[in-house]
Amino acid sequence: MKSPDIIVKTENLTRQFGRFTAVNQVSIRINRGEIFGFLGANGAGKTTLIRMLCGLLKPSSGEATVAGLDIKRESEKIKQKIGYMSQHFSLYNDLTVKENIEFYAGIYGLNRKQIFQKQNEISKQLQMEPYLDSRTSDLPLGLKQRLALATALLHNPPILFLDEPTSGVDPRARRSFWELIYQKAAQGTTIFVTTHFIDESEYCHRLSIMDNGRMIAIDTPESMKKRYKKKSMQEVFGFLIREKGI
Ligand SMILES: Nc1ncnc2c1ncn2[C@@H]1O[C@H](COP(=O)(O)OP(=O)(O)O)[C@@H](O)[C@H]1O
Ligand SMILES: [Mg+2]
Repeated sequence: MKSPDIIVKTENLTRQFGRFTAVNQVSIRINRGEIFGFLGANGAGKTTLIRMLCGLLKPSSGEATVAGLDIKRESEKIKQKIGYMSQHFSLYNDLTVKENIEFYAGIYGLNRKQIFQKQNEISKQLQMEPYLDSRTSDLPLGLKQRLALATALLHNPPILFLDEPTSGVDPRARRSFWELIYQKAAQGTTIFVTTHFIDESEYCHRLSIMDNGRMIAIDTPESMKKRYKKKSMQEVFGFLIREKGI
């Protein structure tokens, strides 16, 4: 029987593009309600791993299940169980805030009443009342990202994949974004988040460091700092870079 508390499980998951190996034998287990961070430089393989877990890209070898579903055989079912916010902005700039919510809610199969409720909920939670009829392109970037997060959660998925969700926004907006992430995790949503901001890695319950497609460390930020006798993740990362040449 599958353990209900492990919501993502991979076993030697690998993806090659031609002869190049972008994700190399990654094995991880992620628990329900966990905020699991994936830290790595550009090109480390973070997006490729997320795309496989979302059922968007087939692995070359290895196995994985997401919410108990096999990523090779049940990728369509996985799409209903997950929220996904890609690195590249996912909202329609030409639509208003309200219209974007309506559009995504329609895709997720919400009815009129549910859409109306969600619009109210999101506009209250993100303090977006003044912007509801504005074109999304006119929103400040931080707010746009929080809106993208809210739309990725419209169907209340048990697991949320965020690919570098805070790229390009200022530290204050990043903090607001992380507050939303914490709220969701406290409600039992599992969060898988990639980042190249080392300071953000401290916010994760558990963290994996990826380099050239390989996972070179996986632990809580606290244990990593203890193991390498460092005061911050910045120092741990610096040490690993010197030690492993990443
Ligand atoms: N569709 C593709 N075809 C060929 N190479 C790819 C493709 N997608 C990603 N790659 C390569 O795989 C490596 C990892 O990319 P990616 O997963 O996007 O890394 P990250 O998200 O960590 O920046 C990069 O070298 C990238 O050029
Ligand atoms: Mg990427």
